[in-house]
Amino acid sequence: MRTTLIVGNWKMNKTASEASTFVHELTRQLPALSSVEVVVAPPFTAIASAHMALGEASPIQLGAQNLFWEDHGAYTGEISAPMLRNLGCRYVILGHSERRTHFGEQDDEICKKIRAALAHELRPILCVGESLTQRESEETELVLTQQLQGSLSGITSQDLEAIAIAYEPVWAIGTGKAATPHQAVAAHRAIRAFLTSAWSPATANATRILYGGSVTTQNVEGILKSEEIDGALIGGACLQINHFVTIVRVAQSIIT
Ligand code: PGA
Repeated sequence: MRTTLIVGNWKMNKTASEASTFVHELTRQLPALSSVEVVVAPPFTAIASAHMALGEASPIQLGAQNLFWEDHGAYTGEISAPMLRNLGCRYVILGHSERRTHFGEQDDEICKKIRAALAHELRPILCVGESLTQRESEETELVLTQQLQGSLSGITSQDLEAIAIAYEPVWAIGTGKAATPHQAVAAHRAIRAFLTSAWSPATANATRILYGGSVTTQNVEGILKSEEIDGALIGGACLQINHFVTIVRVAQSIIT
């Protein structure tokens, strides 16, 4: 049984003090969670204040949006896995399409980041997804397979169970045009088929695959209803407390 995972990717939004207020209110509105895991991923500068505001008893977990693969050293501007662990992070989003597009991240670099995260007990949320052109040329499955192959190279089946994969079609991110449940399910099936062939049916069955790309309070139910979809990675809609709380409640209502 795969526990549903709802992740809020704040991207480059909210200051440390805004994060504190937001997370405080989130904990007030979601004092306990049943059958879902909830993660918020603030920018680096707001992780410490979010951690403080969450407190020790909160069921809401913290994630980061990136890391660098070395633990420490002369890497100006970078943040390492041990630094994030020390701030209370449990998860880290890796390989997001905005990082691939704006910062030129490649699969082999993402793979190093995944290994660094795992070495420090941070659970990676690996993002994969095709562009519109790739979808229109019927390359979706090929692109997903290549991204998974490159970024999960040398990862053991035990490691894989700590990793969640987020299927995020690039054309759906921030556009208001979410994939239909049918499109998402087809991509999730392709991802699980790849995991089955590269590892094993048991590993594929244990791995959570989330959907991300224009998830809203309106479409989340249709998306999460499918057994293939184990959660959601939410951008825009996670920045407003009432929207994020509604999404979490919808996720809980589907499971229980
Ligand atoms: P969006 O972003 O929900 O704003 O489309 C999703 C993401 O980038 O993870």
